[in-house]
Amino acid sequence: MMIDLWLLFKWIFLVTMIIFLIFFVFVMIILRIIRRYHKFPIPAFATRLIDNPWRRFIQKPKVIAERMHLEAGMIVVEIGPGKGSYTKAVAKKVIPNGKVYALDIQESVIESLKKRIEKEEISNIIPIVGDAYNFPFEDKSIDRVFANTCLPEIPDPIRVLRDCNRILKPDGLVSLCEILPDPDYPRRKTEIRWAEESGFEIKEKFGNFFSYQLNFTKKSNNK
Ligand SMILES: C[S@@+](CC[C@H](N)C(=O)[O-])C[C@H]1O[C@@H](n2cnc3c(N)ncnc32)[C@H](O)[C@@H]1O
Repeated sequence: MMIDLWLLFKWIFLVTMIIFLIFFVFVMIILRIIRRYHKFPIPAFATRLIDNPWRRFIQKPKVIAERMHLEAGMIVVEIGPGKGSYTKAVAKKVIPNGKVYALDIQESVIESLKKRIEKEEISNIIPIVGDAYNFPFEDKSIDRVFANTCLPEIPDPIRVLRDCNRILKPDGLVSLCEILPDPDYPRRKTEIRWAEESGFEIKEKFGNFFSYQLNFTKKSNNK
């Protein structure tokens, strides 16, 4: 009986390892190759899958929000809020009088975010259906722009960052977060290059190779 149990344990371990390997090869190699040539927003159901306790343990919403130097009354734009866990953490930090415009290209993502904020009675998140290529905001009107695992999903991230530069106040800040195994995950130096080509300079780096957050300010000749 003891031997049988040991054998069962070994088989379970082996099958788990094989499933993990298949998942790893699929996400890290096949999906990355596909997405390199064909970018599209991740399906709405997947935004619910990626907002899980494991992810929130690695990328803690409260810590991510703290790193953005938020103050009461600030106006924030979040690009691609998904299920909204990070939106909520940011919104809490700008109370009173501050608000977060949560802009997503997918109507279904925005509809479920609206339901969540209604249910949780959050009044300072304003969900908007829109494309990050054309922000519906005035020049120099926004204090912070935030995007978590969204920018590399967009085919032309430099175009988006240039529009971020347009809407940001002179002392504004763009905060970008990425995590592996996102199939669109770019290395820090890639994201820094995109930002520098859009008129930003790096102000702060947090995290490590697997999960990082970068803060950018406008270059002084660009304020
Ligand atoms: C990987 S999900 C990240 C969701 C959330 N930020 C999180 O960390 O859980 C990327 C989100 O960006 C949105 N998105 C993709 N392209 C976009 C675009 N051009 N403009 C605005 N949102 C976009 C997708 O619809 C999706 O909700």
